[in-house]
Order: sequence, then C-alpha cells, then structure tokens
Amino acid sequence: MNIVIKNEHDIEKMRVAGRLASEVLDFIGPHVVAGVTTEELDKLCHDFIVQVQDAIPAPLNYAPPGYSPYPKSICTSVNHQICHGVPGPKKLKNGDIINIDITVIKDGYHGDTSRMFIVGEGSLAARRLCEITFEAMWLGIEQVKPGATLGDVGAAIQKFAEGFGYSVVREFCGHGIGTKFHEEPQVLHYGKPGTGITLVEGMIFTIEPMLNAGRREIKEMPDGWTIVTKDHSLSAQWEHTVLVTADGYEILTVSEGTPANPRLKKEAA
Ligand code: MF3
Ligand code: CO
Ligand code: CO
Repeated sequence: MNIVIKNEHDIEKMRVAGRLASEVLDFIGPHVVAGVTTEELDKLCHDFIVQVQDAIPAPLNYAPPGYSPYPKSICTSVNHQICHGVPGPKKLKNGDIINIDITVIKDGYHGDTSRMFIVGEGSLAARRLCEITFEAMWLGIEQVKPGATLGDVGAAIQKFAEGFGYSVVREFCGHGIGTKFHEEPQVLHYGKPGTGITLVEGMIFTIEPMLNAGRREIKEMPDGWTIVTKDHSLSAQWEHTVLVTADGYEILTVSEGTPANPRLKKEAA
C-alpha cells in the first residue's frame, strides 16, 4: 500500500483546495430550487470554479480505468441516486433531495466535499435520512486520530446507520486524496473496530458515507456513471476531506457555509 504522508507544504495547499470546494457548495446552495435543472447547476458551478476561483473541476473528463470520461464538472445525485449522478435536463421538484459533490484542483491539489440539499421542505423521512447521514459522517470523522484504525471509522458509521434501520453502501468508499483525486487508502464506511490500517499524522483522506433508506444493493445506470439503489429507496451522502493531526483531525473542506458538527451544536444547546 502506498499512502502518501503530506508535509506542511502539501497540507497548506490542501487547505486552500478544500476551502474552494466548500465555497462552491456555499455558492450553489441558493440555486437549488424547484424548476432548476441539474445541468444548470453544473454550468453555474463550472463557471464559478473556472472563472472566479481560477481552479479546475476535477470530475470533468475524469476517466479511471474501466470508465468512460465523466462528462460534467460536478455530481448531482437526486433521490434514489446514490452517487456520481450525471447532471442533465431534468428539473428538480419540491421534496427532492440532492447530493452535490464538488471536487476542485487548485495548484495541483484536490479538495473533495459534498452536502445534501432538500428542495422545499421535504418529507419527514427524507429529512431524517439526510440528517442521520450527516451525523454518521461526523461520527466517523470523530474517530480520526493517530493510532486509531480505519476499521474504527467504518464501524462507528455502520453501527449508527444500521441502528436507524438504514443500510451502508459497500461498493463505494472514501479515499486518500492529494495531488491525485483518488489515492490509497480506501476508507470503508463499515467494518470492525481495531481492524485495517492505523492512522498516522499527515494522512489526508475523505469520509463520505452513502446511506440507503432501504436495502444496500446498488445498480449502475446505462450512462456508465450514475449509481442508484436497486430497490429505488432514497439515498443520502455527505463528504469531507480530513487531515490526521497530532492529536485528532482537521477538516480541510471548510468555508463560511459549512454546516457545524451536530454533536457540538447539541452540547452548546
Ligand atoms: N467526488 C467523488 C468522490 O467523492 C468522485 C466523483 S468521480 C466523477 O470520490 F468522475 F464522477 F466525478
Ligand atoms: Co471523495
Ligand atoms: Co466527492
């Protein structure tokens, strides 16, 4: 396994890329309304990344082995779409939930983050799935510190999610990230405490759990990218890029609009 340990120079660049990715989500949030198409959201983000941020949308033409080049600049996964939803001409409607996943490259370094947005009010079930998935991501993040294992991260997420009757998608995972979009290690969102690699200061990876309201099985659409739930149940995902620090973690994908850690919010209340 070749896990790149980042130095202070890399980390500073990753903070910049991470903040830019998060700022794209801040920017696009107000545009996520009924009647807009995901293609329009893609164009808005593309132009913001290229013209305002002077950065590169990493998904555009991204072609890992066995895949055709990804045709758009962002991923928009609506309702039963789990991840890698390709923006298109379909309009969002009231009650839809949508994951917008942004990856930018700045100065050769990647920042990767996603959030859920709800169009209008959303059903109770939809709001709950989005909220529990957000908390699951945070529970995973809170395991991160030197000496902890990736199994600790996955186990925390899985236990919490399954406690609500949700299932964890197995086929896609978090990943190391840096000068490459997807690096080692793979960060599974399920597993057993104390298993897997041990975390070391200077590692940077994403935590990006995908939770289904129904069964965990997936299906790939004919476009070669969009992944949906086989049983058509709703799916949600949140993602942060995280640095292992000397005594814990630092979230690199932060900006003014980043939703707060839900447990800190509860303590304050
Ligand atoms: N941003 C996704 C991730 O979190 C990867 C998207 S690959 C793409 O890893 F080509 F679909 F953009
Ligand atoms: Co990612
Ligand atoms: Co992503």
